[in-house]
Amino acid sequence: MDRRTLLKVGALAGVAAALPVEKLSRAFTGTARAADPAPALEIPRFTLPLRVPTVLRPTRRTHDADYYDVTMRRARQLIVPGTRTPIWGYEGTFPGPTIVARRGRLVVIRQTNRLPEPSAVHLHGGNVPSESDGIPGQEIEPGRSRLFHYPNHQPAATLWYHDHTHHMEARNTYLGLTGLYLITDPEERRLHLPRGRYDIPLVLQDRSFNGDGSFRPPDPDKGEFAGEVMLVNGTPRPYLEVAQRSYRFRILNGSSADNLLDLRLSDGLAMHVIGTDGGLLPAAVRVSHLPIAPAERIEVVVDFRDVPRGSHIVLTGRNLLGQDVDVMRFDVVAAGHHHDRLPTRLADVSRLDQARATVRRSFTLNLNRQTGTMQINGKDFDPDRVDIRPKLGATEIWTVVNGEQADLPIPHVFHTHLVRFQILDRDGRPPAAEEAGWKDSVPIPPGGRVRLIMKFGDFPGRFLYHCHLLGHADAGMMAQMEVVR
Ligand code: C2O
Ligand code: CU
Ligand code: CU
Repeated sequence: MDRRTLLKVGALAGVAAALPVEKLSRAFTGTARAADPAPALEIPRFTLPLRVPTVLRPTRRTHDADYYDVTMRRARQLIVPGTRTPIWGYEGTFPGPTIVARRGRLVVIRQTNRLPEPSAVHLHGGNVPSESDGIPGQEIEPGRSRLFHYPNHQPAATLWYHDHTHHMEARNTYLGLTGLYLITDPEERRLHLPRGRYDIPLVLQDRSFNGDGSFRPPDPDKGEFAGEVMLVNGTPRPYLEVAQRSYRFRILNGSSADNLLDLRLSDGLAMHVIGTDGGLLPAAVRVSHLPIAPAERIEVVVDFRDVPRGSHIVLTGRNLLGQDVDVMRFDVVAAGHHHDRLPTRLADVSRLDQARATVRRSFTLNLNRQTGTMQINGKDFDPDRVDIRPKLGATEIWTVVNGEQADLPIPHVFHTHLVRFQILDRDGRPPAAEEAGWKDSVPIPPGGRVRLIMKFGDFPGRFLYHCHLLGHADAGMMAQMEVVR
């Protein structure tokens, strides 16, 4: 493979192909970085406070709809003290503003592109009409606007919106084009989960920096598969002051590279998983560590009530190479008063019935070593080709295989637009309880196989499915469905 193809294929694939696998881990141990002459920025660790993206105010409300205006533009943002980082952001911020929607209430967003290049906007996890999905052909040219209609016919969940420009999504999201989109509903509110300032989104995004403060994408030729430092809501390794009570954290792994993480809190503090991509779980699941792949959302409740004041709880993420990366720190500074117990039952998640499935499909995801492209069922993405035609209302079972071999251990993260799915099994075994809710993105390790069940609901038309390691999607690992009547 030539250098360009390597870059396109995405970090880990490129590295693995370029280096014999024995050298892989050595390439990451830092010797390459020591030899690097670029002046390194001093990146703070646990000294900057966590910021929470602002909630966008509608420009207009009617009895059944909220209207928003969003402008995509370039800006310089204070990320590392002493320097300003050029970003591309919704409303010129990174991450962009959060949109809070209510189930059953239409949201209409006018996106205006003031960037130097076209951009498509996708609502990840949204059950939306095809014209609002942000698929190829829906790019907004510089200086133009486009309306997006999001009906929110789906349960309370943590969604996100991000760039989906054909072949450019990895770069464009790396430059900052990401934001949260939260759906709430009455069932969720009745649960009395921690709310307001105790309901905090944590958008995890890895980045590296040039000496002048600009973002530097990971360079596979240098053995980099992810950025050097983790940002949370746009701040490197921040801290958050918390009280001795429980918090709801909506965690999004918004990394664009191969940054699969296994999150863990120090001091053995547990996390209680209450929701996944598509909504709340039937019941909370207590975990001591939490794998989260790019594009996945996991909601947890963490209870600091028994943590002594003055304690520092560090959240780390173990990456693919087994290194523990600092994510952020929770500083327990105040007594808490409000002690709502987690309800034993959260949401009704009706299991989709396998007996109802009328169609079965299989997909194999793998790097084509001849062409250097990433493929689904042996094909590169072609926006002019329709790969499958599910029927409106049909229940389908999809078997998705990560076809990579042991000598090139590339993970994939399979994502469907439009439909949420349930995992039937992983390598023949039922999913863990914390993976058994509604999903739209699922990591599949090399050689792994998952079976997914989904029901095509409200909208006909074209939608995408793809690997959500965005470098892989850019390199061809994407396909198109047309939902037909
Ligand atoms: Cu985050 Cu095509 O999606
Ligand atoms: Cu999506
Ligand atoms: Cu992939």
